[in-house]
Amino acid sequence: TSDRRTEAIGHVYRGTFVHSTPHTALQVLEDALVGVDTGGKIAFIGKGQELNKLSQTFGFCPSEVTQLTQDEFFMPGMVDTHIHAPQYSYAGTALDMPLLQWLDTYTFPVEARFKDLEFAKSVYTQIVKRTLRNGTTTACYFATIHTDASLVLGQIANELGQRALVGKVCMDRNKSVKHYKETTQESQEETDRFIAELLNKKYPLVKPVVTPRFALSCTEALLEQLGAIAKNNNLHIQSHISENTEEVKLVKELFPESESYTDVYHKCNLLTNKTVMAHGCYLSDEELDLFRETGAALSHCPNSNTSLCSGTLNVRNVLKHKVKLGLGTDVAGGYSASMLDAVRRAQDVSKFLTIQDPGHDTLTFEEVFRLATLGGSQALSLDTQTGNFEVGKDFDALRVNVAAADGPIDLTQKVEPKILLEKFLNLGDDRNIVEVFVAGRKVVPFTE
Ligand code: GUN
Ligand code: FE
Repeated sequence: TSDRRTEAIGHVYRGTFVHSTPHTALQVLEDALVGVDTGGKIAFIGKGQELNKLSQTFGFCPSEVTQLTQDEFFMPGMVDTHIHAPQYSYAGTALDMPLLQWLDTYTFPVEARFKDLEFAKSVYTQIVKRTLRNGTTTACYFATIHTDASLVLGQIANELGQRALVGKVCMDRNKSVKHYKETTQESQEETDRFIAELLNKKYPLVKPVVTPRFALSCTEALLEQLGAIAKNNNLHIQSHISENTEEVKLVKELFPESESYTDVYHKCNLLTNKTVMAHGCYLSDEELDLFRETGAALSHCPNSNTSLCSGTLNVRNVLKHKVKLGLGTDVAGGYSASMLDAVRRAQDVSKFLTIQDPGHDTLTFEEVFRLATLGGSQALSLDTQTGNFEVGKDFDALRVNVAAADGPIDLTQKVEPKILLEKFLNLGDDRNIVEVFVAGRKVVPFTE
């Protein structure tokens, strides 16, 4: 048996760490040590003065220590639980219509262009780089109906080092852009091919996700087949639910046998503990109960809900129902590809609900921070691997310098770590995110 101490590997980070646990929205670890092994996993967490002892015990070289400054902290990487990669091509524009017209007018014609692999490659490289720089260490992506372009998205996330769930979009119904849809059989077969080819690549951080676009884009036959594919292969599932009143009304008409929108998906085995559904603004308490019972999660996308005038999700009520919940940017219904924007918008929506009803229990900034990190990992059922700093988890982390030179924040006095975090969440941007780590690998700044 070899002496572990001679292996002298891995890296130790020393300074302030902030993160969430299921019980505490914000836990601050001052002068902490986090040892990351060569596999990118957290080997130990301790106190600064234990450096020599812990390094020896775990076979780390104490000279391999990165010391943060007083203005810096580590936080868990942020988790974008819902983002449309192809829509990045028109992000920041086209927000003048409600959802269904917006899809017909802008979204479907643009997504149809992703048949072109060169165009897909260029947009997908830009969005993965942009979200990484913005501190998104895990993203749950919708691509388009095109299998090969969707595989390219997986390849790019893998190469740039982002943890990603990638979905080839399924839709066998589309009245507006007639060529942007599949037959039921194509959709099923191409989903099978997408899953097989993506799994065959053995990208360590990228997983396929079964992706019916939403009930209005899919026949019941397709929804059933996709539910079966997910079940047989134990895969993640993502879709949209109850985002907009017109959509809810049409789903009722199209699926008269179903008791609710949630029931449409539930009947087809699409609600599992590996399901994440975007929006849910209009879900009833009974539907939220069904989410909890099945273990399915919601993705709250506040920028999108406001930008498309879709609705307001009452996050407090979702949390009361103990439904797993993360935040999403929903690019390009949401115009920003930054999770910091999602954090601020989620806080705003909660405050607007309080303005409307002073009895509403406003989300604290610590709670919103948890939604952007651990909550997202839970929503994607990745919380045994990531989401906070725990021994055995992957080191997915942001090194934040609140006083970064040329950054947007002036520190006018020495402040405690909790205030540093609050300032960063409200005032910071990518200039403050000086390094990004995914599974221990430094992925920002980019190496070439
Ligand atoms: N519902 C179905 N497709 C979409 C989409 O692309 N964006 C949003 N926000 N909602 C949808
Ligand atoms: Fe969406």
